[in-house]
Amino acid sequence: MMYSQRQYESRAMSTDLSKTINPIETARGLPNAHYIDPQLWDEERQALLFENWSGIGLAKDVPNTGDVMPVSFVGMPLVMVHKEDGEVAVFQNTCRHRGMILVQEKGNVRGTIRCAYHSWCYGLEGKLRATPHVGGPGQNIHKDVDRSELGLIEIPSHVWMGVVFVNVAKNLRPFPEAHKSLLERWSEFNRPVYHGGADSSFKLDTKCNWKLAVENYCESYHLPWIHPGLNIYSKLEDHYHIEQAGEFSGQGTTVYQQLVGDNGQKFPDFDGVSAQWDKGAEYISVFPNVLLGVHRDHTFSIILEPIATGQSREHVDLFYTDPSVLGEEYAELRKKNSTQWHGVLEEDIFVVDGMQKGRQGVYFDGGKFSPVMDSPTHLFHQWVAGKITEARRVAAE
Ligand code: FES
Ligand SMILES: [Fe+2]
Repeated sequence: MMYSQRQYESRAMSTDLSKTINPIETARGLPNAHYIDPQLWDEERQALLFENWSGIGLAKDVPNTGDVMPVSFVGMPLVMVHKEDGEVAVFQNTCRHRGMILVQEKGNVRGTIRCAYHSWCYGLEGKLRATPHVGGPGQNIHKDVDRSELGLIEIPSHVWMGVVFVNVAKNLRPFPEAHKSLLERWSEFNRPVYHGGADSSFKLDTKCNWKLAVENYCESYHLPWIHPGLNIYSKLEDHYHIEQAGEFSGQGTTVYQQLVGDNGQKFPDFDGVSAQWDKGAEYISVFPNVLLGVHRDHTFSIILEPIATGQSREHVDLFYTDPSVLGEEYAELRKKNSTQWHGVLEEDIFVVDGMQKGRQGVYFDGGKFSPVMDSPTHLFHQWVAGKITEARRVAAE
C-alpha cells in the first residue's frame, strides 16, 4: 500500500542547494532555512527521514514474544513488536477500522494487539484476527469486511547493532543491501551485541536541529578544543576520515585505549576480533540519524530523535560483547564507561546548540569548509542536498 508521499510539495519553499552540492573546495554548507524553517521540516522529514533507513529505537526494548513498544517517529505513529518467530517487526500504529492509535504503552500484549475502541484484534504478525459485532450484534464477520486485506501496515525494518532501522516510505532496497559497504567495513561487529542495561542508557537534550548533531559527530577537527580530556591521549593527528558517499561518514582513531577498572578489570573483547582493533576505534554517522561507535570491547549507538527545527534528543546506549558483562561483576566498569561517554558527548552539546543559534545570522551563507578537515561533514551536506534536490525534481514532474 502506498500513501501520498508528496503532501508537502505544494507548500515547500525552495532553497538554493547548488553550492552545497559543489566539491568541497568551492562548496557552501546548507542554507540556514534547513535548520530553522518549519516549512522545510516537512520536506526533510519525507526526503531524509522517511525515504531512508532511519533509526527509531532499540530491539532490547521488546525482548520477549508479545512485547510491544510504541514510537512516534517525527510524528509518524509506529509500534515495534516482538513476534512469535523471535524477530522484531514494525507496524504503523493505527487501527485499520477507524484509525484509533493502537498501542499506547510499552508492555506485553500476550499474543493479541487489541484496539481499545471497538476491540478489533491483530496478531503479532499484524493479521486482523477478530472483528467483534462487525456484522451487527453477535455477528463477528461481514461479507464486505475482508480481514485478509485489513492487517496492520508493516513498515520495512531491520535490526543491526541493536538498533531498529525503518524505511517508512518503503522505497529502498533491504537494509543489508542498502548498507552493504558499511556492513562489510564493520563485518567484525555484525554479530549479536548485548545492551549493558539500565546503567548503559542515557539521553542528552539539545536545542539544535538533528542534522547539526550528525555534522559534528562525523568530524574530528573539533577534538582539541571541545574534548581536551580525550585529546590528551587521542590527538587530532591520530584520527582519519571515513567517507562513503551517499551512505555514511565519520572518523577513526588509531590510539583507542581500553577502559581499565580499579582492579585492572577490562571488558572482554569481541570473539576473534582482528588486530586492527587493538588500538583502533571508529565513529560513523549512518545517514540520516544514527551515530555508531565500535571498539574491540564495546559498541554504542546514538539515535537522534528529531523533535523540532531547533530541538532534538540523543538516545545513547552502550552494548557489550558477551552476556557475562551484564552481571554484577562488571557493574562498576559499565558505570565508568557510561560516565566517560556521557562526559564526552555532553561536551558537544554547547557547540551543536551554538551552531543552531548561529544560524539565525541572516548573512550566514552556509559556511566555508576546510577542504582537509571538514570533508566528512561536507559529505553529509552533499547527501542532504542531493536527496532534497531529487525530491524536488520528482515533485516537479
Ligand atoms: S478504531 Fe480500532 S476497532 Fe474501531
Ligand atoms: Fe565531539
